[in-house]
Amino acid sequence: MIHAKNIHKFYDKLEVLKGVDLHIKKGEIVSIVGASGAGKTTLLQILGTLDVPERNPESSLTINGENIFKLQDIENDNSKQEKTFKIITIASSSYVFFLAVFLLFFRTKILDDTFRIITIAVLFLPIITMLFYYNSYFKKKSKQDKILSNFRNLNLGFIFQFHQLLPEFTALENVCIPAFMANKPKAETEKEAKRILEYLGLSHRINHKPSELSGGEQQRVAVARALINKPDVIFADEPSGNLDTHSAENLHQLFFQLRDEFGQTFVIVTHNEELANMADRKLVMVDGQISN
Ligand SMILES: Nc1ncnc2c1ncn2[C@@H]1O[C@H](COP(=O)(O)OP(=O)(O)OP(=O)(O)O)[C@@H](O)[C@H]1O
Ligand SMILES: [Mg+2]
Repeated sequence: MIHAKNIHKFYDKLEVLKGVDLHIKKGEIVSIVGASGAGKTTLLQILGTLDVPERNPESSLTINGENIFKLQDIENDNSKQEKTFKIITIASSSYVFFLAVFLLFFRTKILDDTFRIITIAVLFLPIITMLFYYNSYFKKKSKQDKILSNFRNLNLGFIFQFHQLLPEFTALENVCIPAFMANKPKAETEKEAKRILEYLGLSHRINHKPSELSGGEQQRVAVARALINKPDVIFADEPSGNLDTHSAENLHQLFFQLRDEFGQTFVIVTHNEELANMADRKLVMVDGQISN
């Protein structure tokens, strides 16, 4: 399910990850523990494709059979194209500006000219070429932009310590957002969202906004949001760090119920010893590496 090999990450000169190797099987619940600053969040962000590691010939990252580096390369390729796009935009706006000035000053002369059609055609040719370039650029860009984010949206779910729900939307709307982003139909999505919220014991709170929910309820809404697209892997960073003991225990049990019911894979970074020990496998991060 997840294969990470030789993952390195630097923040300036600080080497945070020093060659992490990781293999996680489908349906496994793995906890990652370690001292503050050991690199747990950094690793989770990289595994979740939200951040990019350093590359070397031995490093690789595969999730659900998909080569993540390849998807990130396509995105990189995009940023190179963006530079070309900017240069061409500056050049073309300058050209249009000078053309406008030229036509304004030499208007009569051009109109009198026997070769006026040829002159105008030649002057406008670069503009037509640019329009063709822009058209193909935007078509390609929108296709490439979506490759990594589509993969993430459909295969991975995220639960953070602070739920990051959108305050102006209701619980139901917050849960539906990732499905709408994946262009799923509204009626079907809302039905599924209600089903998950009911499963999480929140059917009576679906029309409330996050500020009207308790911390535990907000976190369960965040879990529902992470589940709406039925991702194969769920990454959780301190999911119960902000909850009281009772809500934390409920949330932890929920992870195991979900795994048993839907076969999802969980990677959970936690300082909660109880949760860490409940996992199928506990990985300890020490000094940028996983020690066994
Ligand atoms: N964007 C960043 N820029 C520079 N340094 C960073 C950045 N993000 C993290 N770091 C540093 O990288 C190291 C690892 O950070 P990380 O957040 O992965 O630790 P952690 O194990 O999750 O810690 P905690 O348990 O406190 O959440 C820390 O020393 C941190 O200061
Ligand atoms: Mg952290």
